[in-house]
Amino acid sequence: DNSLKNRIFDINKLSSEYYHKNLFTNKTALEYLSKRKINSKIAKEFHIGFANDSWDGLVNFLKNHGIAEEDIVRAGLASRKKNGNGYVDRFRNRIIFPIYDIKSRVIGFGGRVLDDSLPKYLNSPDTLVFSKGNHLYGLNNYLKSSNQERIILVEGYMDVISLYRSGITCAVASLGTALTINQVKLLKQYSSNIYVCYDSDEAGQRATLKAIDILTRSGVEPKVIILPNGNDPDDFIKENGIEEFEKIIEKALSYIEFKVYLMERKYDITKESQKIDFLREMAKILSGIKSSVAREIYLQKYSDKYNVSKEAILAEMGINNKREL
Ligand code: CTP
Ligand code: MN
Ligand code: MN
Ligand code: MN
Ligand code: MN
Repeated sequence: DNSLKNRIFDINKLSSEYYHKNLFTNKTALEYLSKRKINSKIAKEFHIGFANDSWDGLVNFLKNHGIAEEDIVRAGLASRKKNGNGYVDRFRNRIIFPIYDIKSRVIGFGGRVLDDSLPKYLNSPDTLVFSKGNHLYGLNNYLKSSNQERIILVEGYMDVISLYRSGITCAVASLGTALTINQVKLLKQYSSNIYVCYDSDEAGQRATLKAIDILTRSGVEPKVIILPNGNDPDDFIKENGIEEFEKIIEKALSYIEFKVYLMERKYDITKESQKIDFLREMAKILSGIKSSVAREIYLQKYSDKYNVSKEAILAEMGINNKREL
């Protein structure tokens, strides 16, 4: 079948081999990976590659393999020069992470700079076979190992790879911070035991709240793993080791507990007026719980914790419910 879709899959495969081979000839790229604790075994498993600092290395390689320039553009790997003469590679001087679909076909790429220049990551544009919000990085590897109890949802390429290297093969990345409904549909096919473990910076926390929202609306009640000090999973494991990460998995919060935890941090509850404002916000969070036993459990927990009666919290929740009618 010589459809455009299949031609793009072929070009992607060929290109991933090109980048991957090229990695092992480039000392700077190998040094970068070793600094990030990626050895050649892991580089091979994820088929990590390197795009040279060249304007047309890939284009020339593909042309020599009989690929039409227009198809290279359709695969998102090159663009036409502004003056109209010839084509330039999309990825230059970047570490290359091939992105796979659940059938382990290469559908696109992410490319990381070796220094602090921007953009840090450049991804394939949307093509006939790729749209960032429709896929999860690492899902193909997850599917290869059996007996998975959970899926850990992380932000980035390096988070998936770090966890995998440490023996945790159930991590998948939403490739950026906004989880989409299509990614949730994909996740749900494989597990409903989802742990969200986004970066613990501001952006990551905001993204976690959004992810909770979209997951719960699809009927998945996620747990949330909280990392300290703005860490992401890769940073955390580098600093503390995998045993510590396993401990914090066990300490994961329910999504309700996470929302209350984040809310509490906005207030100084040693001051009465702020404690009141906080408790009213907390009541709003609890009034979103559908299960009455779950609601009872949290009522008890927070009534004890904040030293305020269950009746008072319930009454506050009632006020919220009336407001919504
Ligand atoms: N991302 C992206 N484009 C960017 C920045 C980020 O597509 N300009 C995506 C990448 O998939 C990245 C993820 O969002 O892996 C998370 O971003 P960030 O936390 O900023 O990067 P890290 O994955 O932590 O990158 P690294 O550890 O390599 O610095
Ligand atoms: Mn290969
Ligand atoms: Mn981030
Ligand atoms: Mn990160
Ligand atoms: Mn990182």
